[in-house]
Amino acid sequence: MSVLSLSHISLTYSGTAQPVLKDVTLSLSQGDFISVIGRSGSGKTSLMNLAAGFLQPSSGQVSIGGAPVTGPGPDRAVVFQDDALFPWRTVVENVALPLKLAGVAREEREATARRWLAAVHLEGQEDKHIWQLSGGQRQRVGIARALASGPDFLLMDEPLGALDAMTRDRMHELLLQLWDQSHTGALLITHSVEEALFLSTSVVVLAPDPGRISFQESYDYGRRFIRGEDPRALKSEPGFIAARERLLAAIYEKEPA
Ligand SMILES: Nc1ncnc2c1ncn2[C@@H]1O[C@H](COP(=O)(O)OP(=O)(O)OP(=O)(O)O)[C@@H](O)[C@H]1O
Ligand SMILES: [Mg+2]
Repeated sequence: MSVLSLSHISLTYSGTAQPVLKDVTLSLSQGDFISVIGRSGSGKTSLMNLAAGFLQPSSGQVSIGGAPVTGPGPDRAVVFQDDALFPWRTVVENVALPLKLAGVAREEREATARRWLAAVHLEGQEDKHIWQLSGGQRQRVGIARALASGPDFLLMDEPLGALDAMTRDRMHELLLQLWDQSHTGALLITHSVEEALFLSTSVVVLAPDPGRISFQESYDYGRRFIRGEDPRALKSEPGFIAARERLLAAIYEKEPA
């Protein structure tokens, strides 16, 4: 089992004086589902770009299984807020593209792409073009594409932000099933406290200026959903509501005077 570690990370963008992240330490194992929540500008996307290897920290280290991360790699798949798909290619071509770039033969990559499209309930849509799909369907294509290459870690930056509440609830359940089946370590950036709480084995609150971890707590609602409990019943439990209040208080807490 692989572990993605961010150890005492600080990040200052070039040309700026103030650090965006300061002394952030976070460890993501396969089987974890960690959500990062925090105010706009607190450094969430920067943190994900460091984990993905798109950015290098100013100090501290990002490593996988003890080996330093020096760039993006096939062990980490990224799902962006805007779906980053190719609108004029078909659904199956979009999902198969990273496999093509990795040198996987046509038949095998198409079969893998179709299998993951079935897993996100898009069977029958494979030969449509991306522009013919709804927003929720596009996000499912993006998730299928990320999982098709068999990553150890799934890094997601507000992948569900543009979806309506009902579609979003269904996506939560699908994400939990996919996470469970794929044995990935999931890192989710989100603005939704309820989403973070329902999905995650651990929620991290990032406080701004400079971005740092101000609160972290573990939960088991997602695992209980996987074991068959009803999502609406879980979300109305007193423990869920109390945890939501603690998270909101942590996000909006005043800076010490
Ligand atoms: N390429 C960059 N160069 C300089 N500063 C940047 C760059 N990218 C982000 N920043 C700054 O770093 C800070 C954190 O940005 P980041 O995008 O990580 O925040 P965020 O928590 O993802 O915000 P949001 O919730 O709005 O997406 C912000 O002050 C932003 O202006
Ligand atoms: Mg962001």
